[in-house]
Amino acid sequence: MKAKLINITKIEDSRGNLAVIEKDSIPFKIKRVYYLYDVPSNAYRGGHANKKQESLLIALSGSFEVVMDDGTERIRIMLNKPNVGLYIPTGIWREMENFSSGSVCLVLASTNYDEQEYIRDYNLFKLSKQP
Ligand code: TYD
Repeated sequence: MKAKLINITKIEDSRGNLAVIEKDSIPFKIKRVYYLYDVPSNAYRGGHANKKQESLLIALSGSFEVVMDDGTERIRIMLNKPNVGLYIPTGIWREMENFSSGSVCLVLASTNYDEQEYIRDYNLFKLSKQP
């Protein structure tokens, strides 16, 4: 699994924490930023892989779980720290669920939005992994 957790620099003092992401902190150039909020606890998000888009997911507030599948291995990770990002490269099927109340998922993405580069059918995703 090529996905990995990335620690985000945190500057801490008595006034609170400041987390910062700079050009060299993550493995791609950021083209787009979006965020999920007011997500019902029973909602299921994601359910796709991307051919071109790399992304970094951060639980800015609260928590949620990410299931990732690279065609061979399936792992589940809980994100619940604003100073930890989950890097998801291309070609990984991802699903997100169990959002806590008030949670916010920030997504930094390497591409502009393009539906053509999404794979939203799990069977097609599995087929894309066959040699
Ligand atoms: P979707 O890919 O289902 O979100 P998630 O992976 O978080 O569950 O996107 C929901 C809708 O929003 C879908 O109709 C596509 C649209 N969308 C945009 O128009 N621009 C964007 O940058 C993104 C991420 C989604």
